[in-house]
Order: sequence, then structure tokens, then C-alpha cells
Amino acid sequence: MDKDCLIKKLDKQIKICKKCYRYKTRNIAISGNGNIFSKIMIIGESPGKEEDLKGEVFVGKSGIILNNLLKKINIKKKEVYITNILKCYKPNAPTTKEISSCINYLKQQLDIIKPKILVCLGKYANNEIFKIFNFPIKKISEIHGKSFSFGKIKIISLYHPAYALHNSNILKILKKDFKKILLF
Ligand code: URA
Repeated sequence: MDKDCLIKKLDKQIKICKKCYRYKTRNIAISGNGNIFSKIMIIGESPGKEEDLKGEVFVGKSGIILNNLLKKINIKKKEVYITNILKCYKPNAPTTKEISSCINYLKQQLDIIKPKILVCLGKYANNEIFKIFNFPIKKISEIHGKSFSFGKIKIISLYHPAYALHNSNILKILKKDFKKILLF
């Protein structure tokens, strides 16, 4: 089966998933959006209210910031693949149980899409990607903007755009860190 078919098959499974109670608070499960042939995969935390209504990742306030950050490095949102650790909306932060129910979907997305550059936004994406690749987990404040290699895969840790919404200093750091994606 080719990449397109495999991703569509996985998307169908995600859409009807009831492995955790987030299915009760979601309008729609969102597997991810963008170009499955891109070498860049951006990973966030979970869909927000806006995303849940529109059925697309990063279309709310954080999405505006992410779009601007991508524009600054001449990348269009649709050119990269964007997903989240959790595929369903709930107003609360992810729980360990929710993450363990959902993380296999991300692992399958990684297997199918085979991105070369993983851009991790925020602590949840950072922690889970580091766990998948067997790196010791570190705080984003210590490792933001740094990259880690796993064979031919580069992993870069960044602050979550939502954190930059009301913090101009974090936005400045994010803008600077984002440029490093181009160095890969
Ligand atoms: N925040 C995320 O982490 N992901 C989204 O899709 C939207 C907001």
C-alpha cells in the first residue's frame, strides 16, 4: 500500500477512536493536515476549540503565530505535515492515560510519513518524541532551539506558539529558534 492509502486508512481509524474519554468532548478527531511527502513534520499538543470546530490543526490563535513563523522562513503551512500528540479536543491539559492511548497513532504517522525533521512544539511534543527516540527528557527552557539527531532524523525542540501569545520574549525566542529549521 502506498503512503496516501496508509495515511487515509490510519485517518479513518483515528476519526472513530474511543480509546480515551476525549471522544466525549471532541466534535471531530483530527489526525493531521498538510503534505505527507514533506520532510518536515510539526508536532503540537492537541487540537483547541477552534481546531475542533474546523477539523484542522493549528487554525486558532496559536495557528496564526505558527503561520507567521513559517512564513518568516518561507514555508507555507500546507507544504509541511502538522499533527498533535493528542488527536482530540478537551479543554484540559493532556493526561498520561490519554497520551498512552493516543501515542501509537503518532508512531504510525512517523512510520508512514518518514519525516526527516521533527519540529516539537511545547513540552508534550518534546517529551513524547524524546521518549520515542530514547533520549533523556529535558526541559524546553534548557533545550529550545537545539537539535538532536537520530540516524538521519533531526529533532528540534521549540516553545509552543500558545506560550508566545502573551509573552513577547518567548515570541522573540521562537522566531530565532524557528530559523534553525532551515539549517537542516
Ligand atoms: N495547539 C496545538 O498544540 N495544536 C493545535 O492543533 C492547536 C493548538
